[in-house]
Amino acid sequence: MEEIKIEIKDELDIFIVQNAGKKFSREIGFSKQEVETIAIVVSELSSNIVKYAKKGEISFCSLQKGGIEIVAQDQGPGIKNINLALQDGCSDEKSIVFDTKHHGLGSGLPAVKRLTDEMEIETTKDKGTTIRVRKWKSKYR
Ligand SMILES: Nc1ncnc2c1ncn2[C@@H]1O[C@H](COP(=O)(O)OP(=O)(O)OP(=O)(O)O)[C@@H](O)[C@H]1O
Ligand SMILES: [Mg+2]
Repeated sequence: MEEIKIEIKDELDIFIVQNAGKKFSREIGFSKQEVETIAIVVSELSSNIVKYAKKGEISFCSLQKGGIEIVAQDQGPGIKNINLALQDGCSDEKSIVFDTKHHGLGSGLPAVKRLTDEMEIETTKDKGTTIRVRKWKSKYR
């Protein structure tokens, strides 16, 4: 099984890993539109790594039954409340829609969940976060 792993340590790496994800998914046969979707997923996961954990890594793996597995891993602070983090417009502590001091809009992880077929989050306070998503080619779904 093919696999590649890319380290993330700054904003520039978001673009590098995004392009690598596009190339990888194109090569294993995803459609043009699916490749763009995967690019969004990779971009959201990697920007969270830079914002919250400073550094980490993203890996791509092709799945036998016609899919891709993307794993984003870091040793950062961990996500305090996964349920809240998966709600639109929320950080893992509170609604951030009207909190302009906050980093983002809180739409990254909910988008990742909507755009993929399977999502698993493992997170431990001060130990880090691992987010594993799988996406199947439309013809296999
Ligand atoms: N790798 C991570 N480590 C620690 N906390 C994280 C990580 N990824 C996400 N979080 C927490 O989960 C919350 C939700 O993440 P999400 O990507 O949905 O929103 P956001 O990053 O705040 O905003 P946006 O992605 O819209 O710019 C974040 O506010 C952050 O508190
Ligand atoms: Mg985000």
